[in-house]
Parts: sequence; C-alpha cells; structure tokens
Amino acid sequence: MTEKERELQRKAMEEIKKHEDTVKSDPFRLTYHLMPPVGLLNDPNGWIKWNGTYHMFFQWNPFKTAHGAKFWGHYTSTDLVHWKEEPIALAPSEWYEKNGCYSGSAVDHEGTLKLIYTGNVKGEQGERESYQCIATSTDGVTFTKEGPVIDTLPEGYTAHFRDPKVWHDGNEWLLVIGAQTEDEKGLVLLYRSQDMKTWEFAGPVAGAGIGSIDEFGYMWECPDLFHLEGKDVLVVSPQGLEPEGMKYHNTYQAGYLIGELDSKTPIFHHGLFEELDRGFEFYAPQTTEDDQGRRILVGWMGVPDQDEHLHPTRENEWIHSLTLPRELHIRADRVIQKPVEELKALRKNEVSHRNVVVNKDETAYEGVFGKSLELQLSNFENLEGTFEVSLRGSARMVYDTEAQVFTFERISFATRLVEKRQCHLESLNSVRTYVDSSSVEIFINDGQEVFTSRFFPSPENEEITFRASTDTTVTIQKWDMKQVTE
Ligand code: FRU
Repeated sequence: MTEKERELQRKAMEEIKKHEDTVKSDPFRLTYHLMPPVGLLNDPNGWIKWNGTYHMFFQWNPFKTAHGAKFWGHYTSTDLVHWKEEPIALAPSEWYEKNGCYSGSAVDHEGTLKLIYTGNVKGEQGERESYQCIATSTDGVTFTKEGPVIDTLPEGYTAHFRDPKVWHDGNEWLLVIGAQTEDEKGLVLLYRSQDMKTWEFAGPVAGAGIGSIDEFGYMWECPDLFHLEGKDVLVVSPQGLEPEGMKYHNTYQAGYLIGELDSKTPIFHHGLFEELDRGFEFYAPQTTEDDQGRRILVGWMGVPDQDEHLHPTRENEWIHSLTLPRELHIRADRVIQKPVEELKALRKNEVSHRNVVVNKDETAYEGVFGKSLELQLSNFENLEGTFEVSLRGSARMVYDTEAQVFTFERISFATRLVEKRQCHLESLNSVRTYVDSSSVEIFINDGQEVFTSRFFPSPENEEITFRASTDTTVTIQKWDMKQVTE
C-alpha cells in the first residue's frame, strides 16, 4: 500500500468515527439493507461469491453525501443476510484513478480475487480520462493495485468509457464496458483476453448502430452480460431515454435485453429493452452467479441526479442503500426477480389472516403494522375494480383490474406532493412487499414486476391499511424483520 493510499484510508476511517453517532441516530437508517457507514453509496461493485464468502463492494464517497472521488467500500456475508463491514478495498490514491475508483467487477483468477474497475481522471477543464485497472487479493480483504490494463480508448469513442464487467466463457476472458460514440450515443463494447493482462478490443456488441438499435440514449453505464437458462442477458443502465407511456420516468433507466452473444463476430442479437424495476429508485444493478448456480442481482436503491440533494438522510451524513438480493430467472421471455430464499431467515412474529374479505372501508388487520416488515398477499378471489394497500401513511400500492395497471404512489421527498410509477399488469396473483424504515420493494406475481423505492414516512407511523372497491378475498401474512445492519 502506498503512503497516499494509507492516508486516504485513514481520513475515510476518521470520517466514519466522526459521524458514527449522527448516522446511527437517523430514524430512516435501514435495518436489513446495506448502506454506507457514512457519506454516499452508489453502485454495487465486484459482486461475487469467492472462497465460500459473498463479497459486496460499493461505490463510496466517505467525505460527503454527494458524488466525488469514489472509494470501494466492502461488505462480506456467508448467508446473504448478515453482513460484515470490511476494511476499505480501494481508495483513489494513484494518478490513473485520482478522481475515483469507479465501478467494476470481480472474478476469481487462479485462486486470487481480482477487481477490474475504472480509474477516473478529470483534468482542470473537466476533460476526462478513463483507465481500466486491476487490483488483486489473496485473502479477499487487502488488495494490491496492478494499475491500468486498458489505457487507451478505441477509435470513435469518447472518454465516457467505464464499468468493466469480466467473465470467463470457458475459453477466454471476456469484458463488456459501457461506452459512448463520438456523436454521443450509448452502447456496449466487448474486449477479450487470455491472461487478464492484455486485452484486445473486439468491437461493439449492442447499442447505437448495432442490430435493431439505431440510437437509445447518449451513454450506457454498468453493462453486465451473462448466461441464464439457455439465453444470454445483457443488463445495462442507459442514460438519456425520454419517457414513453408508463416507461422511463426516472432520470436514468436500468433494464435488460435477452438474446444471444456471438463473441467472435462480435454481436449480441437481442429483443427489446425492458426495465428491470418500475419504482423510483433503482439503478446500476450487478449480478453474480453463486456456487449453487443462482444468478443473483443487487441494485443501487438510488438514481444519479434524481433529487439526490433533497434526500432527508443527508442531514444525518449518509445517503442511499443497496437493494435486497434477487434471484433471476427467465419466464416467457422476460427476466423475473425473486427475493433470495435466505431472506426468510429474517422473519419473526408471523401474523396471518387467511381469506379475509377486504371491502371499501379502509381497514387495518390485527398485528399487521410496523416499520421493518415483510407483507405477503396471496389467494386473491373476486378481485374486481381496485385493490389498494397504504403503507405507513406515505405510500400506496393500487391495482386496477379494469385498466390492468399496477400503481405505486408515494409522497415525494422533494416536493411533498404525491407522485407515482406504474406498469401494465394483466392479473394480480400475489404481492410480496419488503418495507424497511425508509424503503419499499414490491415483488408482484412471484417477481414478474418489481417496484423499488425510498420513502420517508413519519418514523412513528406504522400503519398498514387495506381497501377494495368490491369485496375481495385475500390472505394476508406479515412478518417483522430482524434487524441485521446495526
Ligand atoms: C453509475 C456510475 C458509473 C460510474 C459510477 C461512479 O451510477 O455513474 O457509470 O462508474 O457511477 O460512481
């Protein structure tokens, strides 16, 4: 470790100490989600199960609740539920990353844990340079920087060139990276390598000018390409899409394309872009395959430039969190997301009301309330008209059978007005909702649609109520969630 690196790490640790009490005193601090110990967290990085342990790194600015020269913070877990804060993995100490150790991925390489990330450099006038760098660890805790392995931009692309995701396809190492053409269109490029050191540019595989896409946003961030149930899936976060009906209302989007990667040509043949999540706060997700063969996705519960400066937790020196881990599958040409099975270990104090009839009088059911809970609705019968659930006086979910639309509403933390996100949904069979002190994740019909959002109810409000325009039978189950984060 260089002197500079040690110094930056020491300063970040001081920052944690300095604000520890303030951060912990925040009633909006989540109880079973990963958050920064202080400062700003954004993308999940280097997500991997390595030597029997899950490693989750994250983009982190320890010094303020705004973006800046990012570090990589680090959590580990053996069960996806209990997480341990590890020493800082990367601090932006070297010339090739002086403005941030930006997003990237992790692989096992000959028994070592290798991180491949973007070194971000900004000049006096804001001109950017981008270096794809490697850091290696033998113990999974301390990392030795090896510097840039891709230090030039391919011709025709700007320095908006970042977020390498690496995998081994059986013959060689492949890497996808988010990029922008010189005429400012977003796409994904592919590189290949035999030894993880020398990387050869293979070409663009999806995005502007490739296959059926003429243009789709001005930059594609955080690509992730993987094999799932006989198909290839490209998860990516495009920037610059215009709202279209119920779609693309966040500042930036995160979604996927299903298809087939031909890495030789190279090209990714694919279908249409679908958003992964319909809620307000979801971006830059990353996946990994664990040793049980599950493809697990974690996203950032935030969106860049989307009212970040107005988040109420900033006054307590922290902002943002990660989503719960979700297992991916393909059903009817769509990616579905199920909360990982392990989350059931967090359940306690089960309350269940079987086959209750919800009617037009807003009703609370005994024991169904709380701040950090899981709520499961199933066995719907006679669902006609609208069915709605209010959460802690600050958010609501509504299904309208006639319009076939599912709506999530919340009181905006920016304007205090009600705002909504919606999606088309032909029928409602089940809803599994995870509520935490200031977040909600809604999994509809076993993961067919997901809404992820932050909300900031008054901390005392634990009320959950139900209402239906015509008498609707439903089974309501609710568990309190064990506090595992601090
Ligand atoms: C996405 C992103 C990445 C970048 C990182 C910087 O949120 O902009 O493209 O690597 O955040 O923190």
